[in-house]
Amino acid sequence: MAGKNRPHAQQKRNNDMPTDQDTVDAYNAAAAEWAERLRNGNNPAHRFLEKPAMYGKLPDLTGKRVLCVGCGTGEECVHLASLGASSVTGIDISKGLIDAARETVPNMDFRVMDMENITFEANSFDYAYSSLTLHYVESWGRTLSEIRRVLAPGGTLLASTHHPVKWGSQVTRGKESDSFLMGYDRLVSGVPSVYGDYQTTRKVQDTWFGTLKVTYFHRPFSAIMRDILDSGMALMDIIEPMPIEEAAAENPSFWEIHRKIPLFMIIELRKA
Ligand SMILES: C[S@@+](CC[C@H](N)C(=O)[O-])C[C@H]1O[C@@H](n2cnc3c(N)ncnc32)[C@H](O)[C@@H]1O
Repeated sequence: MAGKNRPHAQQKRNNDMPTDQDTVDAYNAAAAEWAERLRNGNNPAHRFLEKPAMYGKLPDLTGKRVLCVGCGTGEECVHLASLGASSVTGIDISKGLIDAARETVPNMDFRVMDMENITFEANSFDYAYSSLTLHYVESWGRTLSEIRRVLAPGGTLLASTHHPVKWGSQVTRGKESDSFLMGYDRLVSGVPSVYGDYQTTRKVQDTWFGTLKVTYFHRPFSAIMRDILDSGMALMDIIEPMPIEEAAAENPSFWEIHRKIPLFMIIELRKA
């Protein structure tokens, strides 16, 4: 893996890594638990920050053909349909999650599909939505190019992803505590202790909710921006969402951390 830890300026884009198979297997195995967690609002990052911010950015979708990229167990597709979409199609690389989505929302179109190889015809959709999925691939080049291809002219992509300031930290998970450290202690003389590595594009292995083992990619902001600039779509908006006020009372620790440290970022792109 050391060879993959390289400054982004040296990225060999053709060798960029796809979603890790172990991560797909982990999502397959955790499908029922993942669906239950979302249903119970038991994911503070979703409930107090990401979903309010993403849903707050959604327009009236009346008559729009919507593609949901990385749809998981389908809850967001139901929300997209409630905004008037004429059709909602959910794609996800995990068969387990797609099976769960089909069970929960039987009348919707769900497909097992890799966002780097979308099999729909050009101009098939008017709006694309992708929540917390882009960071599973090392580069967004192929994914953005596929989304651009399947969007009709004037179509929009709204996507959320890890914020590189938080996810470039040194992450330590424990039973009693988690730490995300970015910074350094420097003695007047001697070697400094440096925590985190913002500048290096790298694969990160992590465990969520104590059991879900995932691999995602950290990349500095300039590498993310490079993919956006190269995508041929126009950047319409970029947001560093804050937790909603309810978090202050209901989950003070989440509030205290994430009103100061960015957790995710949201981008809105438009195809000319
Ligand atoms: C953190 S979950 C988010 C799921 C859903 N959007 C939500 O917010 O509840 C990330 C999702 O991305 C999916 N995913 C990862 N890599 C993918 C790829 N290459 N193509 C399609 N889906 C992918 C995973 O299977 C998982 O469902």
